[in-house]
Amino acid sequence: MTVAHLKQAAAEKAVEAVHSGMVVGLGTGSTAVFMVRAIGQLLQDGRLQHILGIPTSEATAREAERVGIPLTTLNEHPVIDVTIDGADEISPQLDLIKGLGGALLREKIVATASRRMIVVGDGSKKVARLGTRAPLPVEVIPFAQGPVQAYLASLGARPVLRVHNGVTFITDEGNIILDCHFDEGIDDPELIGQAIRQQPGVVEHGLFLGLAETAVVATNDTIEVLGKRLS
Ligand code: 5RP
Repeated sequence: MTVAHLKQAAAEKAVEAVHSGMVVGLGTGSTAVFMVRAIGQLLQDGRLQHILGIPTSEATAREAERVGIPLTTLNEHPVIDVTIDGADEISPQLDLIKGLGGALLREKIVATASRRMIVVGDGSKKVARLGTRAPLPVEVIPFAQGPVQAYLASLGARPVLRVHNGVTFITDEGNIILDCHFDEGIDDPELIGQAIRQQPGVVEHGLFLGLAETAVVATNDTIEVLGKRLS
């Protein structure tokens, strides 16, 4: 099976936790897009009804509209029943690094507003220690790039400005991203997360600690459901 097949399998399995009448947080990325399509298909078949989606990015909003998922906002629905989203790393405790897709700020707002967050991924996303496979993305106000970069380096990270197609990557909220590399991974995610937050100009970081309740991880052999049962 290709990685895309594994992502699709995990995403479609997680959709079992979505029931008619729910407000659903719609994650961002190449795994989450399969979840959006699966929900669209179930709505089209009539197997799901009265779903309202809250997208975590402009890209996800476009895809949700394309497949016929009615959208709402956090202002209209401040509490989300379930959010399904991908991740760049999943720890044994279901702590996550997210944000390589650039949507970490809206993703964290949506995950935090959710009664339940389910993370989906292929087996390569599982890590023993956060920060060993992916850098930690930090979303920063452009004006503050210099001091924030210096501050992140003082915390032991190697921050690299994210560039896409030769130009500085700008998030949906108009900010830049500094991808923080940690040579030995992240020792104490809680501590580093708190320290990063203290610096003015930092908007959010990609550590999602204690937010995911369930992980659905697909490998060539099996689809593992980790943490709380899907339903
Ligand atoms: C976007 C994210 C994505 O969920 C994460 O990057 C995983 O992406 P993919 O499913 O494409 O591997 O955090 O901000």
